[in-house]
Amino acid sequence: MSESSDPQSGLSNLLHEERRFPPSEEFAAAANYSEQAYEEAAADRLAFWETQARRLDWETEWSQVLDWSGAPFAKWFIGGRLNAAVNCVDRHVEAGRGEKVALHFEGEPGDTRTISYAELQRLVCQAANALTELGIGKGDRVAIYLPMLVEAVVSMLACARIGAIHSVIFGGFSAQAIYDRVLDADATLVITADGGYRRSSVFPLKPVVDEALAKFEGDTSPVRHVLVVKRGGNDIEMTEGRDLWWDEAVARQPEQHQPEFFDSETPLYILYTSGTTGKPKGILHTTGGYLTQTAYTHHAAFDLHADTDIYWCTADIGWVTGHSYIVYGPLANGATQVIYEGTPDTPHKGRFWELIEKYRVTILYTAPTAIRTFMKWGEEFPSKFDLSSLRVLGSVGEPINPEAWMWYRRVIGGDRAPVVDTWWQTETGAIMISPLPGVTAAKPGSAMRALPGVEADVVDDQGQPVPNGGGGLLVLTQPWPSMLRGIWGDDDRYRDTYWSRFAEQGYYFAGDGAKKDDDGDLWLLGRVDDVMNISGHRISTTEVESALVSHPSVAEAAVVGATDPTTGQAIVAFVILRGSAADGGAEMVTELRNHVAKEIGAIAKPRQILVVAELPKTRSGKIMRRLLRDVAEHRSIGDVTTLADSTVMDLISEGLAAKGGKAAED
Ligand code: WTA
Repeated sequence: MSESSDPQSGLSNLLHEERRFPPSEEFAAAANYSEQAYEEAAADRLAFWETQARRLDWETEWSQVLDWSGAPFAKWFIGGRLNAAVNCVDRHVEAGRGEKVALHFEGEPGDTRTISYAELQRLVCQAANALTELGIGKGDRVAIYLPMLVEAVVSMLACARIGAIHSVIFGGFSAQAIYDRVLDADATLVITADGGYRRSSVFPLKPVVDEALAKFEGDTSPVRHVLVVKRGGNDIEMTEGRDLWWDEAVARQPEQHQPEFFDSETPLYILYTSGTTGKPKGILHTTGGYLTQTAYTHHAAFDLHADTDIYWCTADIGWVTGHSYIVYGPLANGATQVIYEGTPDTPHKGRFWELIEKYRVTILYTAPTAIRTFMKWGEEFPSKFDLSSLRVLGSVGEPINPEAWMWYRRVIGGDRAPVVDTWWQTETGAIMISPLPGVTAAKPGSAMRALPGVEADVVDDQGQPVPNGGGGLLVLTQPWPSMLRGIWGDDDRYRDTYWSRFAEQGYYFAGDGAKKDDDGDLWLLGRVDDVMNISGHRISTTEVESALVSHPSVAEAAVVGATDPTTGQAIVAFVILRGSAADGGAEMVTELRNHVAKEIGAIAKPRQILVVAELPKTRSGKIMRRLLRDVAEHRSIGDVTTLADSTVMDLISEGLAAKGGKAAED
């Protein structure tokens, strides 16, 4: 176990939770899945997955379900051929549901668009034709840096339609982050917008892309074209020969496009996520297995009834939740959904609830950090709106504390709608552990057990399953269809990160601590590695440390994720400044916080930066983050006997006390 990790410490805090919330009889009777699904999957797991795969349209059926002989590189539905975009769009039109609404788009300023499946088909075909005209073909990488617009969904599906691999970059990321991702994936096209709306003003996107591409020296940029959606109306520069407006390049294209069918293992996308080093990992997903599991889990965990439900996932397209539960899962299932461009407090703190009332949303999928923020704002905001349409509530991204869970169920769900706490990762591609809303008697704060078809366990350091009541590390013991197929361009890192820890058992190591309660239900306890979870977003401590030390005034930096009542964790940095900067004061701290935002993105801006003279290190030079976390969380400092210099912590504490403890916080 790494220095920073101790899943056991969370165990003692865990409540002895006695509350149970089974579905109503009425809900259970109408639900898509019953207890029988667990039995079927247990009896024949691969046959169960074949049944799920048959919910999709395949041009050619597979001849073998799973090939695990090249472990840890899996192949699913071997020999099968399909097109993801056809499954998400065309097949619904062909089945006579062309007029059904696919997307209710709501812009932050209040503009709306209603896109039927037939319209979505026309838009995706036009975009596919435009990409082809720009020379993009099968296997080419396309970076997408867009706000939550219809064009974001269309761009992803257009890539999928022609076999190009999309790499969506969250719109809050910096030029440096774009540069790193474009370089790593060797992307030849970037799709962006002039700007997007956030908190009533326009934030620039195209200028950030320009800045990123300017970092390539000489003519080393792999990017041949930048396609620009007009959204913010902000002033931008267009580079002749490279940059094109979406309205010009796409709108004139034919509305038909003949799809090709691709092998099940054809790469669908790369999505970068933080690991324990400074370099983000390009998580690779392929087509058949990914689409099978996203569609199945969206149908199962949310009990989707496509004909009547109105579904809304509040994630951004830049994260995996937006990929799996806005684009691929819901659209493969023919769902009608709401997509919203902006923030929950614009123009007022009831915006989400207003949208739920307006569209009669029945299924809501959001994150604990949002729920805790709503709790803080108060019940008066949701209580002004009619939320009676809601029938299932989902949570994802971080552990949900029982108080937030109860509030969600009571205030938003009217004490009626089941809450499903869904555990999964960018790497797993789809939900792995979650209640089934029509089956499970849910416990507030528990993700309960693995979905039918999925095998998870909690093991000790030796890989032995812990007994009920015990805690340890979460592992996945069998391959699953939507599992990552590797890290783009780095097979060794893939093996090392996920498969080396329990190589003997062949388990996938998730990086999360977990507990099995007395009934064997699972409680997720957070990361056990140096990855922080800030508002449900993964950021590694090393990434922020590298950003800090890239500033000329910083000699050394150590970063920890400290518990935060709203964001789950918050970034707290300890820095040693270089000689002349050493007493830079509050201005220096502000400069460093902005520097991190510029290097990575605003989400990585430390909540607090503490200037110190020394950092606590072991004799082998490893920073003891555990001790720094004690400081950051205002706790008494734990065991310091392994420190090379045991007086260091006294110095840090004294220094902080002298500055009033949190001089640098804002
Ligand atoms: C955490 C987001 C507790 C976990 C889909 C995981 C959770 C990481 C939950 C993946 C949950 C996600 N309960 N923790 N329901 N869901 N996590 O890749 O630490 O952005 O490893 O995927 O988020 O984050 P990622």
